[in-house]
Amino acid sequence: MLEASKLLREKTRVLHEKAEQLTLLKQLAEGRITLAEYCRAVELFFGFWLLMEEKLKFYPKPTEASLGLEKLRLDLSHLGYSPKQILQLPVCEDDFKVETAANGLGVLYVALGSQLGRSIIYKNLQSRLDLPENSTSYFKPNDQLWANWRNFQMFLNASIQNVSQMEETLWAAKMTFQSFIRWFHINEKNGPVLTEPFLGTL
Ligand code: HEM
Repeated sequence: MLEASKLLREKTRVLHEKAEQLTLLKQLAEGRITLAEYCRAVELFFGFWLLMEEKLKFYPKPTEASLGLEKLRLDLSHLGYSPKQILQLPVCEDDFKVETAANGLGVLYVALGSQLGRSIIYKNLQSRLDLPENSTSYFKPNDQLWANWRNFQMFLNASIQNVSQMEETLWAAKMTFQSFIRWFHINEKNGPVLTEPFLGTL
């Protein structure tokens, strides 16, 4: 059997390409984004990973694995959202169920893998002088990024022991990508849900 990490990469390549084509993500990656669009993007990441965290709560993950929700909360608050407003942000809904540890690994694969592209986004956001200070921590790569990724790949490869676990993991990874793409696609054209936080700066 091909290593789980290699198979997941190969079988989700097309979905990754689709995600990169999302308008807001392209704008983020190229640093061509207004403050309102940036707020919308952070809201959408937050609403998406909140749902995925809920799905993952009963499944094992390496101790250093984080979906980035704390950083997103901090960024939202530096963008001017109050704790109450953050609680009111829309949360993604979908109907795929994480029912096994192998499913959980598929979701985690997408969540942790998605951090690898953030350094590109972070670099381009740095030239945006009108973004409030400390509002881009979610995208800031940490020094351990690649070491953590390699640890996760080892954890993944050691955890997937047979074809049926592999299928469950791949299925959940694909569902996570599809859910992400749908969530952004439906919502990215709208303005941010809350307009008050940055009214003064627009
Ligand atoms: C404009 C947006 C994005 C860019 C520029 C980007 C870029 C990248 C880059 C450079 C890598 C590392 C590839 C390598 O190993 O050399 C990567 C990996 C990955 N990205 Fe993205 N990405 C983006 C969006 C996303 C999104 C939205 C998701 C999922 C929600 C995602 C999931 C992943 C995954 C799972 C991997 C690991 C692939 C593997 O198994 O090696 N990416 N991305």
